[in-house]
Amino acid sequence: MPAFVSRRGFLATTGAACASVLTSRNALAFPAPQQVEIQTDAEIGTIRPEMHGHFAEHLGSCIYGGIWVGKDSRIPNIDGYRKQAVEDLRRLGLVVLRWPGGCFADDYHWRDGIGPRQKRPRRVNIHWGNYTEDNSFGTHEFVNFCRLIGAEPYLAGNVGSGTPDELRDWVEYCNYPSGSTLSDERAANGSPEPFRVRYWGVGNENWGCGGQMTPQEYAAHYRRFSGYIREFGGVRPFLVACGPSGNNADWTRGFFQSMGGRRRMPDGFAMHFYSSGKSNATRFTVETLPEQLSSFARLETGILEQRKLMDEFDPQKRIGLMIDEWGVWDRMVPEEEKRYGRLWQQITMRSAVAAAMGLNVFHRQADKLVMGNIAQTVNVLHAVLLTDQERCIRTSTFYAFELLKPHRGNKAVRVKTGDESPLGLSVSASRQKDALAITLVNPKHDAAVAVECALTKGTAAAAKARIIHHADFNACNTFEAPDVIVPKDHPVTARGSKIGIELPPMAVATVLAQLGSA
Ligand code: AHR
Repeated sequence: MPAFVSRRGFLATTGAACASVLTSRNALAFPAPQQVEIQTDAEIGTIRPEMHGHFAEHLGSCIYGGIWVGKDSRIPNIDGYRKQAVEDLRRLGLVVLRWPGGCFADDYHWRDGIGPRQKRPRRVNIHWGNYTEDNSFGTHEFVNFCRLIGAEPYLAGNVGSGTPDELRDWVEYCNYPSGSTLSDERAANGSPEPFRVRYWGVGNENWGCGGQMTPQEYAAHYRRFSGYIREFGGVRPFLVACGPSGNNADWTRGFFQSMGGRRRMPDGFAMHFYSSGKSNATRFTVETLPEQLSSFARLETGILEQRKLMDEFDPQKRIGLMIDEWGVWDRMVPEEEKRYGRLWQQITMRSAVAAAMGLNVFHRQADKLVMGNIAQTVNVLHAVLLTDQERCIRTSTFYAFELLKPHRGNKAVRVKTGDESPLGLSVSASRQKDALAITLVNPKHDAAVAVECALTKGTAAAAKARIIHHADFNACNTFEAPDVIVPKDHPVTARGSKIGIELPPMAVATVLAQLGSA
């Protein structure tokens, strides 16, 4: 262990599995400030809070053991939901939660998950390990969970192995106020009030696990399935069509060409973006780290190219682009997956930097993006919470989301950093009347950066900043040491139209300031 790593810091990593790649002290020498222009009067669009959305699938221990522990569990729970998860997700303010998949969605039959639990059928989860799914967590449990944490439910319908009438009935079951057989059944199952679900996905990754379709085949399915989804009780369904894997132009062009302009277009078009890592989560190296973090520049290019394509078919820009699955997908450690479930990975300082870079990209595309759902909320991939029996910890990514929370609902404004390279300083800024929020991310592991933000209009006062940072990009919060990476206050200066801040390597900081007239 290097002499300057504390025992606590060492324990923070996953024991021997964690490669300690530490920033040298020299790296903290701050060069001349990088000039960043914050164009306070150049609004891009509203940062819809749904851009900070989440995704939870019946996969590994995301639902079972993570969110849902059951009423009889020794783990403290509220009606079967893990109490600490409820509290933490409430604190984070989960805006929207997509469920039940993922690949699982296209093999999910919603009727399996309603009615008395002991009578629900046991099905095999063919996508995620052929284990037996007892359907104890179904539509009611999901919607009630959303109500408990204050999130908007987003249901992903089954197109791959399902039928149009199955999806149509799910919408009626959830949203028809009363008096139909399906709405009465919902009431008999404990929910007389309609669920009023607004977001409906018409399939998931139908180019892959959702049916291996061509874009033309999917467009035909989309038209057929969506044609039977109706407004009930004043809730107009927001329909989401399956978009491309990353920046796949053929999928997007093929889908929209086959839709034919006359028909009702989807409200949202969902692209998926995973940033694959070439290392185990706690063993990134100075080669694999920049390689992964650079992918967020590709995400932004992908969004720009996809929206341009969409504009060809939707010149009035009615369809919102969504990234309804995104995040880092590192190399899994077999022993960890065995212990904690499929696609379980540790979440490190690098993961938090990646999350903040992703959210910054979304903010900068606020005039087109309507939603972004990180994959996945608990125990799977880019999680904000990790659980182990009774223990539940907030990951560094939880805190990255928390740091970016002040942007929600604000107007994003344009920013010029003067360095568009993939690992250049990542910045997004937004304002709500006189309140200004700026998030700065330094993705470099070997260079600190001093930043001078110049406001194009107005002055800044009463600036304060919070930061998350760790010199070891593989550092992480663990069950033994859950507070290795937590937000801290950070010095920031505000003089006239200038805001100054220094960022160590691997840091995410949000500055909040009051705008005044010059
Ligand atoms: O999030 C894990 C999986 O990744 C989802 O089930 C699928 O949609 C995607 O390929």
